[in-house]
Amino acid sequence: MVKLLTLIGAGLILAGQAAAQEAYDRHCAKCHASADRLARKLEGATPKEKAAKLDQFLESHRKLDPDVRAKLAEFLAGLPRP
Ligand code: HEC
Repeated sequence: MVKLLTLIGAGLILAGQAAAQEAYDRHCAKCHASADRLARKLEGATPKEKAAKLDQFLESHRKLDPDVRAKLAEFLAGLPRP
């Protein structure tokens, strides 16, 4: 319940990001230290291109629900480059 209220309060975009971060923590963080570092390595000129390539890569990299995979790809591709 608290989680639901938090999600609603945070608004749709933030909630999506939080969910993606949570998915990252659950599925990726045990082998990849930080999402930012991983995001920097992604190939592609635009966030859209990066997300597409990552989504494709993840198909064989980790077994994930396609929805979770797409969310993660979008999230990582959208992280700002320092
Ligand atoms: C069991 C450990 C493990 C987990 C969990 C894991 N990875 Fe990886 N990942 C690796 C290893 C090892 C490599 C380097 C070798 C390779 O390409 O397979 C790698 C490579 C990558 C690469 C290529 C860039 C690079 O650093 O070489 C990306 C992008 C990536 N992983 C994303 C993810 C994402 C996103 C998740 C979560 C869905 C994830 N990985 C989960 C072990 C893991």
